[in-house]
Amino acid sequence: MKRRIAVLGATGSIGRQAIEVIEAHPDLELAAATSGSTPIDGLAPVTQVGGDATDVLEQTEPDVVLNAIVGFAGIHATLWALERGVTLALANKESLVAAGELAREAWARGGGLLLPVDSEHSAAFQLLGDMPRDQVRGLVLTASGGPFRGRSRDELEDVTPADALAHPTWHMGPKITIDSATLANKGLELIEAHFLFDLPYDAIEVVVHPTSVVHAIVRLRDGASLAHLGYPDMRVPISFALTHPGREATPLPQLDFAGLRLEFHEPDLETFPLLALAREAGERGGTYPCVFNAANEVAVEAFLQGRIRFLDIDGAVADALARVDGAPARDVDELVEADRSARNLVAVA
Ligand SMILES: NC(=O)c1ccc[n+]([C@@H]2O[C@H](COP(=O)([O-])OP(=O)(O)OC[C@H]3O[C@@H](n4cnc5c(N)ncnc54)[C@H](OP(=O)(O)O)[C@@H]3O)[C@@H](O)[C@H]2O)c1
Repeated sequence: MKRRIAVLGATGSIGRQAIEVIEAHPDLELAAATSGSTPIDGLAPVTQVGGDATDVLEQTEPDVVLNAIVGFAGIHATLWALERGVTLALANKESLVAAGELAREAWARGGGLLLPVDSEHSAAFQLLGDMPRDQVRGLVLTASGGPFRGRSRDELEDVTPADALAHPTWHMGPKITIDSATLANKGLELIEAHFLFDLPYDAIEVVVHPTSVVHAIVRLRDGASLAHLGYPDMRVPISFALTHPGREATPLPQLDFAGLRLEFHEPDLETFPLLALAREAGERGGTYPCVFNAANEVAVEAFLQGRIRFLDIDGAVADALARVDGAPARDVDELVEADRSARNLVAVA
Protein backbone atom coordinates (compact mmCIF):
# COMPACT_ATOMS: atom_id res chain seq x y z
CA MET A 1 0.00 0.00 0.00
CA LYS A 2 1.38 3.38 -0.97
CA ARG A 3 1.41 6.21 1.56
CA ARG A 4 -0.93 8.88 0.18
CA ILE A 5 0.29 12.43 0.74
CA ALA A 6 -1.62 15.71 0.43
CA VAL A 7 0.81 18.56 -0.27
CA LEU A 8 -0.71 21.88 0.75
CA GLY A 9 1.24 24.82 -0.64
CA ALA A 10 2.51 22.63 -3.47
CA THR A 11 3.85 25.53 -5.56
CA GLY A 12 6.09 26.89 -2.82
CA SER A 13 9.68 26.17 -1.90
CA ILE A 14 8.78 23.36 0.54
CA GLY A 15 5.89 22.07 -1.58
CA ARG A 16 8.05 21.67 -4.68
CA GLN A 17 10.79 19.89 -2.77
CA ALA A 18 8.17 17.63 -1.16
CA ILE A 19 6.91 16.61 -4.60
CA GLU A 20 10.51 15.85 -5.59
CA VAL A 21 10.82 13.60 -2.52
CA ILE A 22 7.49 11.87 -3.27
CA GLU A 23 8.50 11.26 -6.89
CA ALA A 24 11.77 9.67 -5.74
CA HIS A 25 10.02 7.08 -3.54
CA PRO A 26 7.78 4.41 -5.07
CA ASP A 27 6.05 3.90 -1.71
CA LEU A 28 4.82 7.50 -1.64
CA GLU A 29 1.98 8.87 -3.74
CA LEU A 30 0.89 12.47 -4.30
CA ALA A 31 -2.85 12.23 -3.60
CA ALA A 32 -3.73 15.94 -3.57
CA ALA A 33 -2.13 19.33 -4.03
CA THR A 34 -3.18 22.88 -3.25
CA SER A 35 -1.91 26.39 -3.92
CA GLY A 36 -2.99 29.88 -2.97
CA SER A 37 -3.47 31.30 -6.48
CA THR A 38 -0.99 29.61 -8.86
CA PRO A 39 -2.72 27.24 -11.34
CA ILE A 40 -1.88 23.57 -10.61
CA ASP A 41 -4.17 21.62 -12.94
CA GLY A 42 -2.91 18.06 -13.39
CA LEU A 43 -0.25 18.25 -10.68
CA ALA A 44 -2.10 15.65 -8.57
CA PRO A 45 -5.30 13.56 -8.89
CA VAL A 46 -7.11 16.20 -6.82
CA THR A 47 -6.05 19.85 -6.88
CA GLN A 48 -7.41 23.06 -5.43
CA VAL A 49 -6.39 26.66 -5.93
CA GLY A 50 -7.33 28.99 -3.08
CA GLY A 51 -10.27 28.38 -0.76
CA ASP A 52 -10.17 26.15 2.31
CA ALA A 53 -7.58 23.37 1.99
CA THR A 54 -9.62 21.17 4.32
CA ASP A 55 -12.11 20.62 1.46
CA VAL A 56 -9.38 18.70 -0.36
CA LEU A 57 -8.47 16.81 2.79
CA GLU A 58 -12.09 15.73 3.35
CA GLN A 59 -12.31 14.61 -0.25
CA THR A 60 -9.05 12.65 -0.43
CA GLU A 61 -8.55 11.41 3.16
CA PRO A 62 -4.74 11.29 2.85
CA ASP A 63 -2.44 9.26 5.10
CA VAL A 64 -0.18 12.29 5.57
CA VAL A 65 -0.92 16.01 5.35
CA LEU A 66 2.16 18.04 4.46
CA ASN A 67 1.19 21.55 5.44
CA ALA A 68 3.53 23.86 3.51
CA ILE A 69 1.14 26.79 3.24
CA VAL A 70 2.76 30.04 4.34
CA GLY A 71 1.29 31.97 7.27
CA PHE A 72 -1.88 31.84 9.35
CA ALA A 73 -3.77 30.66 6.25
CA GLY A 74 -2.56 27.13 7.12
CA ILE A 75 -4.45 27.06 10.43
CA HIS A 76 -7.50 25.06 9.39
CA ALA A 77 -5.48 22.31 7.71
CA THR A 78 -3.25 21.94 10.78
CA LEU A 79 -6.21 21.66 13.13
CA TRP A 80 -8.02 19.30 10.72
CA ALA A 81 -5.13 16.83 10.74
CA LEU A 82 -4.44 17.09 14.48
CA GLU A 83 -8.10 16.65 15.41
CA ARG A 84 -8.48 13.53 13.27
CA GLY A 85 -5.19 11.89 14.20
CA VAL A 86 -3.99 12.08 10.57
CA THR A 87 -0.19 12.29 10.41
CA LEU A 88 0.78 15.93 10.04
CA ALA A 89 4.12 16.85 8.47
CA LEU A 90 4.26 20.46 9.55
CA ALA A 91 6.25 23.12 7.74
CA ASN A 92 3.62 25.80 8.40
CA LYS A 93 5.01 26.84 11.80
CA GLU A 94 2.77 29.92 11.92
CA SER A 95 -0.31 27.74 12.50
CA LEU A 96 1.18 25.97 15.52
CA VAL A 97 2.48 29.26 16.94
CA ALA A 98 -0.89 30.96 16.54
CA ALA A 99 -3.07 28.06 17.66
CA GLY A 100 -0.80 27.04 20.55
CA GLU A 101 -2.83 25.34 23.26
CA LEU A 102 -5.80 24.82 20.92
CA ALA A 103 -3.51 22.85 18.60
CA ARG A 104 -2.07 20.84 21.48
CA GLU A 105 -5.58 19.97 22.67
CA ALA A 106 -6.63 18.90 19.15
CA TRP A 107 -3.43 16.82 18.88
CA ALA A 108 -4.17 15.11 22.22
CA ARG A 109 -7.73 14.32 21.13
CA GLY A 110 -6.65 13.05 17.70
CA GLY A 111 -3.67 11.10 19.02
CA GLY A 112 -1.82 11.17 15.67
CA LEU A 113 1.76 11.91 14.70
CA LEU A 114 3.00 15.48 14.41
CA LEU A 115 6.27 15.41 12.49
CA PRO A 116 8.00 18.77 12.25
CA VAL A 117 9.47 19.73 8.88
CA ASP A 118 11.32 22.80 10.11
CA SER A 119 14.91 21.56 10.03
CA GLU A 120 15.69 22.55 13.63
CA HIS A 121 12.55 20.89 14.97
CA SER A 122 13.00 17.79 12.85
CA ALA A 123 16.48 17.57 14.36
CA ALA A 124 15.14 18.09 17.89
CA PHE A 125 12.41 15.49 17.31
CA GLN A 126 15.07 12.98 16.30
CA LEU A 127 17.36 13.87 19.20
CA LEU A 128 14.66 13.78 21.84
CA GLY A 129 13.06 10.55 20.65
CA ASP A 130 11.59 8.70 23.60
CA MET A 131 14.18 10.10 26.01
CA PRO A 132 12.68 10.56 29.50
CA ARG A 133 12.11 14.30 29.92
CA ASP A 134 13.75 14.44 33.33
CA GLN A 135 17.06 13.69 31.58
CA VAL A 136 16.69 16.71 29.31
CA ARG A 137 18.01 20.07 30.50
CA GLY A 138 17.25 22.06 27.40
CA LEU A 139 17.08 22.51 23.68
CA VAL A 140 19.34 24.73 21.60
CA LEU A 141 17.99 25.97 18.27
CA THR A 142 20.56 27.24 15.80
CA ALA A 143 20.04 30.33 13.65
CA SER A 144 22.12 31.23 10.60
CA GLY A 145 21.80 34.89 11.59
CA GLY A 146 20.50 35.75 8.13
CA PRO A 147 22.05 38.15 5.59
CA PHE A 148 22.46 40.98 8.12
CA ARG A 149 24.35 39.09 10.82
CA GLY A 150 27.01 41.32 12.40
CA ARG A 151 25.38 44.60 11.34
CA SER A 152 24.16 47.37 13.66
CA ARG A 153 20.75 49.05 13.37
CA ASP A 154 22.41 52.10 11.80
CA GLU A 155 23.71 49.85 9.06
CA LEU A 156 20.23 48.49 8.40
CA GLU A 157 18.56 51.89 7.82
CA ASP A 158 18.39 51.59 4.05
CA VAL A 159 18.32 47.86 3.34
CA THR A 160 15.92 46.86 0.56
CA PRO A 161 13.73 43.77 0.14
CA ALA A 162 16.29 42.48 -2.39
CA ASP A 163 19.07 42.78 0.23
CA ALA A 164 16.94 40.99 2.81
CA LEU A 165 15.95 38.24 0.37
CA ALA A 166 19.60 37.23 -0.19
CA HIS A 167 19.82 34.52 2.48
CA PRO A 168 23.31 33.05 2.93
CA THR A 169 22.47 29.38 3.54
CA TRP A 170 18.81 28.57 2.74
CA HIS A 171 16.75 29.17 -0.43
CA MET A 172 13.20 29.66 0.78
CA GLY A 173 9.96 31.52 0.09
CA PRO A 174 10.00 35.32 0.55
CA LYS A 175 8.13 35.52 3.86
CA ILE A 176 10.37 33.11 5.79
CA THR A 177 13.45 34.68 4.18
CA ILE A 178 12.53 38.10 5.57
CA ASP A 179 11.71 36.44 8.90
CA SER A 180 15.21 34.97 8.88
CA ALA A 181 16.72 38.41 8.27
CA THR A 182 14.82 39.94 11.24
CA LEU A 183 15.20 36.80 13.44
CA ALA A 184 11.37 36.68 13.70
CA ASN A 185 11.71 33.22 12.18
CA LYS A 186 13.78 32.04 15.14
CA GLY A 187 11.22 33.66 17.44
CA LEU A 188 8.43 31.70 15.74
CA GLU A 189 10.58 28.58 16.03
CA LEU A 190 11.10 29.14 19.74
CA ILE A 191 7.33 29.17 20.27
CA GLU A 192 6.91 26.25 17.86
CA ALA A 193 9.44 24.22 19.90
CA HIS A 194 7.61 25.03 23.14
CA PHE A 195 4.35 23.62 21.76
CA LEU A 196 5.90 20.69 19.89
CA PHE A 197 8.06 19.36 22.71
CA ASP A 198 6.24 20.71 25.75
CA LEU A 199 9.41 22.44 26.96
CA PRO A 200 9.31 25.60 29.10
CA TYR A 201 10.68 28.72 27.41
CA ASP A 202 13.62 28.98 29.79
CA ALA A 203 14.77 25.56 28.58
CA ILE A 204 14.96 26.69 24.93
CA GLU A 205 17.97 28.71 23.76
CA VAL A 206 18.91 30.20 20.42
CA VAL A 207 22.50 30.41 19.20
CA VAL A 208 23.75 31.88 15.96
CA HIS A 209 25.58 29.32 13.83
CA PRO A 210 26.35 30.87 10.45
CA THR A 211 26.83 27.73 8.33
CA SER A 212 23.55 26.04 9.41
CA VAL A 213 25.20 22.61 9.64
CA VAL A 214 24.22 21.93 13.25
CA HIS A 215 20.42 22.09 13.29
CA ALA A 216 19.66 21.54 16.96
CA ILE A 217 21.36 20.46 20.18
CA VAL A 218 19.79 18.76 23.19
CA ARG A 219 21.46 19.36 26.56
CA LEU A 220 21.24 16.48 29.02
CA ARG A 221 21.40 16.59 32.80
CA ASP A 222 24.70 14.70 32.95
CA GLY A 223 26.46 17.50 31.06
CA ALA A 224 26.43 15.78 27.67
CA SER A 225 24.97 17.51 24.62
CA LEU A 226 23.62 15.70 21.55
CA ALA A 227 23.73 17.53 18.23
CA HIS A 228 22.11 16.87 14.86
CA LEU A 229 24.24 17.77 11.84
CA GLY A 230 23.71 17.86 8.10
CA TYR A 231 24.16 20.13 5.12
CA PRO A 232 21.32 22.69 4.98
CA ASP A 233 18.84 21.14 2.55
CA MET A 234 15.12 20.89 3.30
CA ARG A 235 14.77 17.64 1.37
CA VAL A 236 16.24 15.87 4.41
CA PRO A 237 13.61 16.92 7.00
CA ILE A 238 10.87 16.62 4.35
CA SER A 239 11.99 13.09 3.51
CA PHE A 240 12.28 12.24 7.21
CA ALA A 241 8.68 13.33 7.81
CA LEU A 242 7.22 11.67 4.72
CA THR A 243 9.03 8.34 5.11
CA HIS A 244 8.98 8.14 8.94
CA PRO A 245 9.95 5.80 10.52
CA GLY A 246 11.69 4.47 7.41
CA ARG A 247 14.30 7.24 7.01
CA GLU A 248 14.81 6.66 3.29
CA ALA A 249 17.91 7.79 1.36
CA THR A 250 18.13 11.31 -0.12
CA PRO A 251 20.44 12.67 -2.85
CA LEU A 252 22.43 14.59 -0.19
CA PRO A 253 26.16 13.87 0.19
CA GLN A 254 27.54 12.69 3.52
CA LEU A 255 29.18 15.44 5.61
CA ASP A 256 32.85 16.19 5.01
CA PHE A 257 33.96 16.73 8.62
CA ALA A 258 37.49 17.81 7.76
CA GLY A 259 36.02 20.77 5.85
CA LEU A 260 33.60 21.86 8.59
CA ARG A 261 33.94 24.99 10.72
CA LEU A 262 31.48 25.02 13.59
CA GLU A 263 31.11 28.51 15.06
CA PHE A 264 28.47 29.65 17.54
CA HIS A 265 27.61 33.17 18.75
CA GLU A 266 25.06 34.87 20.96
CA PRO A 267 22.18 36.40 18.96
CA ASP A 268 22.20 40.22 18.80
CA LEU A 269 18.86 41.01 20.46
CA GLU A 270 19.34 44.80 20.22
CA THR A 271 19.67 44.83 16.45
CA PHE A 272 17.07 42.08 16.00
CA PRO A 273 14.46 42.65 18.75
CA LEU A 274 11.84 40.31 17.24
CA LEU A 275 13.51 37.28 18.79
CA ALA A 276 13.11 38.71 22.31
CA LEU A 277 9.59 39.93 21.50
CA ALA A 278 8.61 36.43 20.39
CA ARG A 279 9.99 34.94 23.59
CA GLU A 280 8.02 37.46 25.62
CA ALA A 281 4.84 36.77 23.61
CA GLY A 282 5.33 33.04 24.12
CA GLU A 283 5.88 33.42 27.85
CA ARG A 284 2.78 35.58 28.20
CA GLY A 285 0.78 32.92 26.37
CA GLY A 286 -2.89 33.28 25.43
CA THR A 287 -3.24 34.90 22.02
CA TYR A 288 0.01 36.90 22.30
CA PRO A 289 1.82 34.44 19.98
CA CYS A 290 -1.09 34.69 17.51
CA VAL A 291 -0.84 38.49 17.62
CA PHE A 292 2.95 38.38 17.22
CA ASN A 293 2.51 36.23 14.13
CA ALA A 294 -0.33 38.27 12.61
CA ALA A 295 1.44 41.60 13.07
CA ASN A 296 4.65 40.17 11.69
CA GLU A 297 2.88 38.80 8.60
CA VAL A 298 1.34 42.20 7.87
CA ALA A 299 4.59 44.07 8.47
CA VAL A 300 6.66 41.69 6.33
CA GLU A 301 4.18 42.03 3.47
CA ALA A 302 4.34 45.83 3.78
CA PHE A 303 8.15 45.72 3.72
CA LEU A 304 8.17 43.44 0.65
CA GLN A 305 5.85 45.89 -1.09
CA GLY A 306 8.11 48.82 -0.21
CA ARG A 307 5.58 50.49 2.10
CA ILE A 308 7.72 50.35 5.26
CA ARG A 309 11.43 50.09 6.03
CA PHE A 310 13.15 46.95 7.29
CA LEU A 311 13.63 48.54 10.71
CA ASP A 312 9.91 49.35 10.97
CA ILE A 313 8.94 45.67 11.07
CA ASP A 314 9.81 45.07 14.73
CA GLY A 315 8.20 48.34 15.83
CA ALA A 316 4.93 47.37 14.12
CA VAL A 317 4.91 44.02 15.92
CA ALA A 318 5.81 45.55 19.32
CA ASP A 319 3.08 48.13 18.90
CA ALA A 320 0.42 45.51 18.10
CA LEU A 321 1.47 43.37 21.08
CA ALA A 322 1.24 46.39 23.38
CA ARG A 323 -2.32 47.10 22.27
CA VAL A 324 -3.97 43.71 22.93
CA ASP A 325 -4.93 41.90 26.12
CA GLY A 326 -3.79 38.51 24.80
CA ALA A 327 -6.86 36.75 26.23
CA PRO A 328 -6.77 33.05 25.31
CA ALA A 329 -8.95 31.88 22.42
CA ARG A 330 -11.49 29.28 23.49
CA ASP A 331 -12.03 27.97 19.96
CA VAL A 332 -10.86 28.43 16.42
CA ASP A 333 -13.40 31.18 15.73
CA GLU A 334 -11.97 33.26 18.56
CA LEU A 335 -8.48 32.56 17.26
CA VAL A 336 -9.40 33.70 13.76
CA GLU A 337 -10.89 36.83 15.31
CA ALA A 338 -7.69 37.48 17.34
CA ASP A 339 -5.65 37.14 14.15
CA ARG A 340 -7.99 39.43 12.22
CA SER A 341 -8.11 42.17 14.82
CA ALA A 342 -4.31 42.06 15.30
CA ARG A 343 -3.89 42.59 11.55
CA ASN A 344 -6.14 45.65 11.77
CA LEU A 345 -4.01 47.07 14.57
CA VAL A 346 -0.84 47.16 12.51
CA ALA A 347 -0.41 50.73 11.36
CA VAL A 348 1.34 50.11 8.06
CA ALA A 349 -1.54 50.44 5.62
N1 LIG B 1 11.25 27.26 2.52
C1 LIG B 1 11.88 26.67 3.51
O1 LIG B 1 13.03 26.24 3.35
C2 LIG B 1 11.20 26.50 4.84
C3 LIG B 1 11.92 25.95 5.90
C4 LIG B 1 11.26 25.73 7.11
C5 LIG B 1 9.94 26.06 7.25
N2 LIG B 1 9.27 26.62 6.21
C6 LIG B 1 7.86 26.98 6.38
O2 LIG B 1 7.08 26.34 5.38
C7 LIG B 1 5.99 27.17 5.00
C8 LIG B 1 6.07 27.43 3.50
O3 LIG B 1 7.26 28.13 3.23
P1 LIG B 1 7.80 28.30 1.74
O4 LIG B 1 9.14 28.91 1.88
O5 LIG B 1 7.63 27.03 0.99
O6 LIG B 1 6.77 29.42 1.19
P2 LIG B 1 6.46 29.83 -0.32
O7 LIG B 1 7.56 29.39 -1.22
O8 LIG B 1 6.09 31.26 -0.31
O9 LIG B 1 5.18 28.94 -0.68
C9 LIG B 1 3.96 29.14 0.00
C10 LIG B 1 2.91 28.19 -0.53
O10 LIG B 1 1.68 28.51 0.14
C11 LIG B 1 0.68 28.85 -0.83
N3 LIG B 1 -0.17 29.89 -0.28
C12 LIG B 1 0.15 31.19 -0.09
N4 LIG B 1 -0.88 31.85 0.48
C13 LIG B 1 -1.88 30.94 0.64
C14 LIG B 1 -3.20 31.01 1.15
N5 LIG B 1 -3.72 32.16 1.61
N6 LIG B 1 -3.93 29.87 1.16
C15 LIG B 1 -3.43 28.72 0.69
N7 LIG B 1 -2.18 28.57 0.19
C16 LIG B 1 -1.42 29.69 0.17
C17 LIG B 1 1.46 29.32 -2.04
O11 LIG B 1 0.65 29.23 -3.22
P3 LIG B 1 0.85 30.27 -4.46
O12 LIG B 1 2.02 29.77 -5.26
O13 LIG B 1 -0.40 30.16 -5.20
O14 LIG B 1 1.10 31.61 -3.84
C18 LIG B 1 2.64 28.35 -2.02
O15 LIG B 1 2.24 27.11 -2.56
C19 LIG B 1 6.12 28.45 5.85
O16 LIG B 1 5.32 28.34 6.99
C20 LIG B 1 7.59 28.47 6.24
O17 LIG B 1 7.79 29.14 7.46
C21 LIG B 1 9.86 26.84 5.02
